[in-house]
Amino acid sequence: MDRRRFAIRTYGCQMNVHDSEKLSAVLDGAGLSPTPDESQADLLVINTCSIRDKAEHQLYSDLGKLRQWKAERPGRLVGVGGCVAQQVGDRLLGRFPQVDFVFGTHNLRRVPALLRDAAAGRRAAWIDEDATRGRFDLPLARVEPAGGPRRRAFVTVMEGCDMFCSFCIVPSTRGREISRTARDIEAEVRALADAGVVEITLLGQTVNAYGRHDVRRGRAEDAGTMPFAELLARLDAIPGLERIRYTSPHPLFFDEALIRAHGELERLCPQVHLPVQSGSDRILEAMRRRYDRRRYLGIVEALRTARPDVAITSDLIVGFPGETEEDFEQTLDLVREAGLVDSFSFKYSARPGTAAAGLGGEVPPEVAQDRLERLQSQQREQTLAYHASRVGERARVLLDGASRRGGGQVMGRDRHNRVVNVDLTPGTTAGPGDALDVVIVGATPHSLLGRPLAAGNSPDPR
Ligand code: SAH
Ligand code: SF4
Ligand code: F3S
Repeated sequence: MDRRRFAIRTYGCQMNVHDSEKLSAVLDGAGLSPTPDESQADLLVINTCSIRDKAEHQLYSDLGKLRQWKAERPGRLVGVGGCVAQQVGDRLLGRFPQVDFVFGTHNLRRVPALLRDAAAGRRAAWIDEDATRGRFDLPLARVEPAGGPRRRAFVTVMEGCDMFCSFCIVPSTRGREISRTARDIEAEVRALADAGVVEITLLGQTVNAYGRHDVRRGRAEDAGTMPFAELLARLDAIPGLERIRYTSPHPLFFDEALIRAHGELERLCPQVHLPVQSGSDRILEAMRRRYDRRRYLGIVEALRTARPDVAITSDLIVGFPGETEEDFEQTLDLVREAGLVDSFSFKYSARPGTAAAGLGGEVPPEVAQDRLERLQSQQREQTLAYHASRVGERARVLLDGASRRGGGQVMGRDRHNRVVNVDLTPGTTAGPGDALDVVIVGATPHSLLGRPLAAGNSPDPR
């Protein structure tokens, strides 16, 4: 009999993307086969995000359309996981008869059992918090990117968040902080490197808080964890690996050892995504971010001293309750002063159960929209200026695939994590997984343009 096929729709951050990879491996182990084509699937899983109201509503809009998909073939099943599943739980089953099962962010391993029950007509939701390290024991993701060997991979080092920023729903959708053992992380990275992976991105909601609770309680040795900078040094020594990144760190845990690591570790990329959220101390305080603008700018300066070419990017929120024009101008100013190479910026969205949801002082939507546009236009200029400053430099580009711009172009990322489009010279072939040495010849606000230095692709992706 044919294996049943599943498709996964993924929304949200890299943790969700990686959870979908893990879930693929779990479903594969349960006898199902992946398909990228939902019209061929017997099971559709939606891995949801709840970070802003719009992300949550995406689920409800998807579910509306899925009634038709289910009707097209009897026996089709729909599962909902991720942060909305964790937040809303079994009320999803009550509201949406088209949903067959719901699983929380700690319950990927339960999905085969939920699926069996759902196939027998028993709909269920499983959203218990699993506070043990056992939840990291999942089969290694085996997803191959289309058309090439796997060169990049995500590796979970910690999960959960204990920071409770006043605007953020993540502490309630991902639960308490828990770190994997360094041994397990190292073993996974070695296995990936042996399989040809050259770039890893370490993942955690506050990734550089890795091991902090164990270290503070003097229990790191028993727990098998260590400070984040030490973990990086261990991974840096793994043969075959070429690029190490991590996301997202929190400024509060950016200690001297981590800054030093950026100057010392050869494989650690000259790039840090360091969310700041606001440039106003008053707003930072109301956001409960536990640092001020001086501290943030101090980290940026120290990083630049350790690693002069480091590319720093960030996340920003505009229109937080009580944000005045002056507060907002301080954000514009910080973006400039920090020399942010790029940023993701969002309009504040009130989330259920968060501390900020109860604050007064809402910023009118049109004011928030105007601030967002001003911020993004300033950032575009800064990004363009940074890209322009790179023209004439050499760069090594790890290719992802054909360029979005089509033509004879391929696309990849440099060590600074910037997108580089490369014009292939006639007769050259290079595809996903290859690395190309290029000279930067052009710059737009979105990407760099590169020209291959030597004819032919480099067989060595490092
Ligand atoms: N752990 C990371 C952020 C994860 S969420 C950190 O501490 O920085 C990704 C980004 O979404 C956040 O950095 C923030 O900019 C944005 N975000 C989170 N909650 C939001 C909300 N309620 N409204 C608007 N943006 C939000
Ligand atoms: Fe959310 Fe703050 Fe935790 Fe980041 S550190 S996930 S913004 S609560
Ligand atoms: Fe969204 Fe959950 Fe990530 S809310 S941003 S998918 S941690």
